[in-house]
Amino acid sequence: MKKLLVFAVGAYSLLMFSGLVFAQASAGKLAARACSSCHATAIICEKLGNRNAEVWQQTVARMQGNGAKLTDADAATIAEYLATAKPGSKYLCK
Ligand code: HEC
Repeated sequence: MKKLLVFAVGAYSLLMFSGLVFAQASAGKLAARACSSCHATAIICEKLGNRNAEVWQQTVARMQGNGAKLTDADAATIAEYLATAKPGSKYLCK
């Protein structure tokens, strides 16, 4: 019974972890795709780590105003990614 529990907790953590990694990767790729058509992503990279979630939401909303074609859901996903991405993100800053 105890072994089963350990297995269940282990499998659950692994699933959650890989889900998280997958979500990070797809959000990073989405940002790279959506944010590179008008300017280099370098101007985003410079700011990674310097802005909180609220400021990134404002930035992405301003980009929608600049003409970025994004659903609000994608805008939210991107803002969340940018707020948590480490400077030098492999998706944006290669
Ligand atoms: C339709 C064109 C377009 C797209 C697509 C676009 N941008 Fe911009 N971006 C601009 C323009 C125009 C400026 C300069 C004016 C301004 O800052 O709003 C700019 C400036 C910036 C700046 C520098 C100003 C600042 O706030 O520090 C950042 C950062 C930025 N964009 C991030 C992004 C992100 C993140 C995305 C993807 C969600 C994105 N951009 C997509 C047009 C675009």
